[in-house]
Amino acid sequence: AKDPVRVLVTGAAGQIGYALVPMIARGVMLGADQPVILHMLDIPPAAEALNGVKMELVDAAFPLLKGVVATTDAVEACTGVNIAVMVGGFPRKEGMERKDVMSKNVSIYKSQASALEKHAAANCKVLVVANPANTNALILKEFAPSIPEKNITCLTRLDHNRALGQISERLNVQVSDVKNVIIWGNHSSTQYPDVTHATVSTPAGEKPVRELIADDQWLNTEFIATVQQRGAAIIKARKLSSALSAASSACDHIRDWVLGTPEGTWVSMGVYSDGSYNVPSGLIYSFPVTCKNGEWCIVQGLSIDEFSRNKLDLTAKELSEEKDLAYSCLS
Ligand code: NAI
Repeated sequence: AKDPVRVLVTGAAGQIGYALVPMIARGVMLGADQPVILHMLDIPPAAEALNGVKMELVDAAFPLLKGVVATTDAVEACTGVNIAVMVGGFPRKEGMERKDVMSKNVSIYKSQASALEKHAAANCKVLVVANPANTNALILKEFAPSIPEKNITCLTRLDHNRALGQISERLNVQVSDVKNVIIWGNHSSTQYPDVTHATVSTPAGEKPVRELIADDQWLNTEFIATVQQRGAAIIKARKLSSALSAASSACDHIRDWVLGTPEGTWVSMGVYSDGSYNVPSGLIYSFPVTCKNGEWCIVQGLSIDEFSRNKLDLTAKELSEEKDLAYSCLS
């Protein structure tokens, strides 16, 4: 039998945490033959709720779940973890300035970076979900210099999956037949959902989305806006932000990273830019990636037309500004 993998979920008493931990315990993230030990971190005001989640994990009698650590101590939570899913953060409340929210999250991610760097297992893979996801991941990277930068990522897979969902609804095809959309940039409303290279499997073979949806106007306006604004639409409908889809996409992100992407398929991940596609280096930016042997690699050589170029640059600009704001909170 395989040794258990230790998976940390921060903010585990929150909404996404509640949807995510049972998925991990059922093998959705790492496979149905991979035992897991869950480490759950939250802050003291949420300690009782966190303990309730632990009780439910016991009650669910998950065969793959070999242990649960539920704690408000970051060092205990981070000790020995192989995978860290960072969902905990400070939400933007009504009337709060952008800078105040940034400042709270920068200090959280700075201190959790040290806890992970000192206590996580070697080669721990990190996924930041909490917003501002790209910039939180960047701060985590900066303050955990001994963690290889390729091990620190942020979640844009939810946006990627939303784009697949919109195309499948529009064409009335199975979502599993659509692939190779791209989310470029920030997990925010400046992200660029790009279908230029996306395809659909049809009985007549693989077809470009742009051939099947001849309505460029829809693809270039409504489709993009729908994906960019989907988070807000969910909040309006549920009075709560996306949780089951965020949790499921976080599992997709880690599963593909660890177990590999299918041949001929790429996914979107927020990763440390190496300057590919003339995206400034030093930002955590969402790119199309393939994964193999536990490592991601940015898909190279895709054509970028002028329409796309502008959108790639716009979201990079926003990320540079967020980075500056984050650094101004540190000093
Ligand atoms: P939530 O407010 O229900 O849960 C957040 C949890 O984090 C709370 O239990 C809170 O006590 C905890 N927390 C706060 N500070 C912490 C700290 N220093 N250490 C550990 N835990 C801490 O929020 P929800 O709905 O679960 O969302 C979590 C985050 O994920 C938010 O920042 C949200 O904006 C973000 N998000 C990101 C998505 C993405 O695609 N990247 C999609 C959906 C949400």
